[in-house]
Amino acid sequence: MTQPVGSAAAARPIVAANWKMNGMRRDGRDLAQGLARLKLAGGELACDIIVCPPVTLLFELRDVLQAAAIALGGQDCHDAEKGAHTGDISARMLVDCGCHHVILGHSERRANHGETSETVARKAATALEAGLNVILCVGESEADRDTGNALDVVGDQLKISLPVQGSTKDIVIAYEPVWAIGTGRIPNAAQIGKMHRHIREIYKATKSGDVNGLRVLYGGSVNAENASDILSIEGVDGALVGGASLSAEKFWGICAHYGE
Ligand code: 13P
Repeated sequence: MTQPVGSAAAARPIVAANWKMNGMRRDGRDLAQGLARLKLAGGELACDIIVCPPVTLLFELRDVLQAAAIALGGQDCHDAEKGAHTGDISARMLVDCGCHHVILGHSERRANHGETSETVARKAATALEAGLNVILCVGESEADRDTGNALDVVGDQLKISLPVQGSTKDIVIAYEPVWAIGTGRIPNAAQIGKMHRHIREIYKATKSGDVNGLRVLYGGSVNAENASDILSIEGVDGALVGGASLSAEKFWGICAHYGE
């Protein structure tokens, strides 16, 4: 029996797919089946794989992904346990659909839904309480980077977004520079390495706990061609992938970095 992602294998790298608002049922099924086939044929990888489809596909894809030991995640959840929140999804509903993970604080949620870091921390607390692992996103805008404020902005986001609850076992950080998402532009290796070190320091200072085993993923224009360069940077423990995760072959090309 394969271990569900995020349990005992706490320090394994993670490659996570964020499909965002993409995928009709048929597309989603084809994509998940394609990925499951590649995973089952591809042998052992030294990473965990998580797929975060739109909520309409979660339950539908659960079994095919589970059969290939690919974990399922949601893209967001509400900070309340349940109640009068039309259109929202609760953490427990995600669990009920087979999810082990949820992405929180993605820059598209922060920008399009006015989500603050305080909201993200509340959502994270609720998600952890429901038994989910949290992939908590932080990242600076292009203006922040240009004005030399990237470290401060990301550090402040992280400090406020981190819930009191949780540990490195059930919280993963994803560094996603907003200007690198879907643009084909990525920070250089030194900038990524420096930010990931900073994130570890802030995490340690904020949670005053053990930072060993904390996984910090990089996200923003990761593809099969640049994956090995990015994933080889010290302090990068995996990737959160948008566009390239909409093709099973391209996404697998990223995961394959962790192959033999
Ligand atoms: P892209 O890989 O399309 O740049 O998206 C990254 C992202 O936002 C993942 O959450």
